[in-house]
Amino acid sequence: MKLGLNLSFAVKRWLEAERLAALVADDLDTRYVQFTWDLVDPWWPEAQRDALASAYAQAFARAGVTVESSFGGLASYSYNHILAPTPELRDLGRQHLVRAIDMTAAMEVPVAGMPFGSFSADDAVDPGKRREIYKTALDIYVGISRHAKARGLEMLMVEPVPLSTEFPSTAADALRLMHDLEGATDVPVRLNVDWGHAMFKPLFGDDATMEHWMTVCGEYIAAYHIQQTDGLYDRHWNFTHDGLISPADLSAFWNRHKLKDQTFFLEVVYAFEEPDATVLSDMQAAMALLRSA
Ligand SMILES: [Fe+2]
Ligand SMILES: [Fe+2]
Repeated sequence: MKLGLNLSFAVKRWLEAERLAALVADDLDTRYVQFTWDLVDPWWPEAQRDALASAYAQAFARAGVTVESSFGGLASYSYNHILAPTPELRDLGRQHLVRAIDMTAAMEVPVAGMPFGSFSADDAVDPGKRREIYKTALDIYVGISRHAKARGLEMLMVEPVPLSTEFPSTAADALRLMHDLEGATDVPVRLNVDWGHAMFKPLFGDDATMEHWMTVCGEYIAAYHIQQTDGLYDRHWNFTHDGLISPADLSAFWNRHKLKDQTFFLEVVYAFEEPDATVLSDMQAAMALLRSA
């Protein structure tokens, strides 16, 4: 399987571009990464933001590491973006992704992605409001795709999330979004499916399996987040932790579905209070387990 790293594990710890690139290439022996916007905030002033983001991109290139995509992290996920309750908030969500695309272009990275958006508690249980806001969001997203194309990006990605107050959450929702955008956007839009989200039992029940996701929307999946989980919460544990997924399961899935380019980005979120040395040794142990599977 083609393994990569989402850089979430490094947030607030390994900030210096050369240091992070060397840590990925040498300590973790990894050649593919997904850059997280938790390292450089798309809302930072453009000149400083793009200089910092390009410094990361150049350091990775020098270390022989390919940055395949850039992706929203925890900070970005705190906001409702284009499914927010008001036009003002939805426009800020639009600007957020547009700015992230600009930053991604400055890095010369071809793909940017994030979850689609979140409804408010009240809108989420109002089918009429959901329909109305979703329709608006589709138009916004098509406009964003024009910007992505103009900035030289080749693809946008959407990550489904395990909450019924957000969209898409189910595999059927994800497929619907792909169909609704297909042919309307200027760059292709694909899914970045997170194993821990897809296997969330409280929401998906018997459909909380990756096989279900492959059956329903597998043709649209361009990349994966892998993480260990118990299926009860979105854990983002590492594979040194016991849970529902074994490295052998990942490898078997890769082979069974004859995947080629759909990188498995390990996306681990550590407690901020976890010591840096513990995080690094845990990452090394997990990558060794994954590589030997
Ligand atoms: Fe994820
Ligand atoms: Fe998650």
